[in-house]
Amino acid sequence: MSGTKLRLGVNVDHVATVRNARGGRHPDPVRAALLAAEAGADGITAHLREDRRHISDDDIARLMAELRVPLNLEMAATDEMLTIALRHRPHAVCLVPEKRQERTTEGGLDVAGGHNHLAPFVSTLSSAGIRVSMFIEAETRQLDAAKSIGAPVVELHTGAYCEVAPGPERERHLKRLQTAADYATKIGLECHAGHGLGYDTVGPVAAIAALAELNIGHFLVGEAIFIGFEASIRRMREAMDAARA
Ligand code: PXP
Repeated sequence: MSGTKLRLGVNVDHVATVRNARGGRHPDPVRAALLAAEAGADGITAHLREDRRHISDDDIARLMAELRVPLNLEMAATDEMLTIALRHRPHAVCLVPEKRQERTTEGGLDVAGGHNHLAPFVSTLSSAGIRVSMFIEAETRQLDAAKSIGAPVVELHTGAYCEVAPGPERERHLKRLQTAADYATKIGLECHAGHGLGYDTVGPVAAIAALAELNIGHFLVGEAIFIGFEASIRRMREAMDAARA
């Protein structure tokens, strides 16, 4: 697997966060998504939250109409979101846990404990030709549960790894990610990772040969303030490629 190109999914949620601060149209996350694709993004990710705090229903419709790269729709496992996903049929859906009060997606989905609730979502989305991914913590029991529920893809939560300072604790988180990614591919799951990644944390994760895709958003949008969105994506792409080389 070493040397396989690692895909970069660019999450445009926080372009919408800035737009929504004033309630108008600028900056447009769809324009950002098109620019991201030009800058080397292999796909675009957008999270339609229950409270619509950033991405809107109209953004999803426009992304589906205008994008020429795959759209990965992040969503909670609710009936409302299922109806929306089936209407648009994006390339992929990543099922994430969602709490209204949280600032961002704070933990992984409990696939092991939520099997009965989640199974119909996975089968209905899969039957519609949508590639289903489960956003989980790097734990064997969650990987086994994702496999048994029939999801072809998992995304490992990198938040805890990114939040701690460099040192032994970060190394421990990295090791967990590495072990989980290896195990995921061993049991036949495609493995992605994301949340909280930036230039100083992406290298060791990108070097994990079992990973096929990273999804990165907040840092890229923040860095765009200083160097521009295209440049921030190109630099991330270079950091990923350098770590893989
Ligand atoms: N992957 C998943 C499943 C997420 O929920 C998020 C945040 O929306 C990301 C990746 C991207 O995280 P960040 O914006 O911190 O790069």
